[in-house]
Amino acid sequence: MSRLNIAITGFGGIGRKVAELLSVRAERYRQQFDLDVRIVGVCGSSAGLIEEDGLTPEALADRSSYTPGLSGDTFIEQVPADLLIEASPTDFRTGGAALGYIRTAFRRRMHVIAISKGALVHDFPGLHAQASRQGLALKVSGAAGSAMPTVDLVQYNLAGCEVKSLSAIVTGTTNIILSEMMDRECSFADALAEAQRLGIAESDPTLDTHGWDTACKIAILCSAAFGDVIDVQAMKRQGIDHVTLDDVRRWKVQGVMPRLVGRVDRSAGVCDASVGIELCGPDHPFARAHGRAKAVHVVTDLMGELTLTGGGSSPYGTAAAALKDLEHILRDTRLAPRLRSL
Ligand SMILES: NC(=O)c1ccc[n+]([C@@H]2O[C@H](COP(=O)([O-])OP(=O)(O)OC[C@H]3O[C@@H](n4cnc5c(N)ncnc54)[C@H](OP(=O)(O)O)[C@@H]3O)[C@@H](O)[C@H]2O)c1
Repeated sequence: MSRLNIAITGFGGIGRKVAELLSVRAERYRQQFDLDVRIVGVCGSSAGLIEEDGLTPEALADRSSYTPGLSGDTFIEQVPADLLIEASPTDFRTGGAALGYIRTAFRRRMHVIAISKGALVHDFPGLHAQASRQGLALKVSGAAGSAMPTVDLVQYNLAGCEVKSLSAIVTGTTNIILSEMMDRECSFADALAEAQRLGIAESDPTLDTHGWDTACKIAILCSAAFGDVIDVQAMKRQGIDHVTLDDVRRWKVQGVMPRLVGRVDRSAGVCDASVGIELCGPDHPFARAHGRAKAVHVVTDLMGELTLTGGGSSPYGTAAAALKDLEHILRDTRLAPRLRSL
């Protein structure tokens, strides 16, 4: 049996769920891949843990045992990992700490599964080139729709087809708020306050409500699936914070459902991307993607039109999407031998 050493940067809600699922699936990795998968290091903003023999769930849970200062460069230069799962905060303007983590991970010959979006938005081409030069994987499912496949849908299921256009609901928080406003006929402020009370919306929700989260995910999708670079800051973008109670009442009378949709038009051969509110009639599949649900609609040249709904926002769904990426790496005969300990 071979060993696979994993490091996790950013050990908050999502990083911890990834660790939990890795532990639950340890036996599956042994049986299906003849692989002993261990977490050898985790770090947060100012402290971390490294243990070459693997960290137990108990050790990971005991924050008092974390080494102060074992974060950032100190952590990523030392951790003896074959694969990095990056789950630190998203900073799409600078790339944030994730950019350094991912670049160093490639330099140290680790595969990377990115869940945070900032580094990918900031420099996908550079990171992709760095990975390709070394025969390493850069997987991004957790950063581009998580439990609802977007990049994989285009790259695997529709491989060889020309995708003419793609539209998608990819931000759970905005879909929950819009659904709540329509269900309860309430204001944006009331729906947002309820989403914050339930722990769904962040205390600073503007990343979602101003459309940035959708824009980032659409830009990552364009880079990863179509090889087109999109400048997120220049993208035509609308949020949901301007929606009024009058809008809600009018839409109810009209029988339409508002959805914040990321749209990619490829009719000119390159991606023309935008984010905005679209009004969906009762028969439109996006109208039925209510609350936490997400959806993607693709128009292709030879496989017709496809719509996928579901894959709603949840920390476990995001962690599972990252570990789907792991299984794809392990099944890829070109990539698996690059894992040093295999
Ligand atoms: N939540 C979701 O459903 C979801 C879905 C898809 C993608 N994502 C992305 O996943 C990432 C993590 O989300 P989350 O919900 O887990 O956030 P979170 O609960 O706020 O956790 C963030 C973690 O990152 C750590 N951190 C902060 N600065 C760091 C640094 N410089 N180096 C290493 N770690 C650092 C924090 O450490 P401290 O505890 O020390 O502050 C914290 O443990 C974000 O980029 C988010 O956009 C989240």
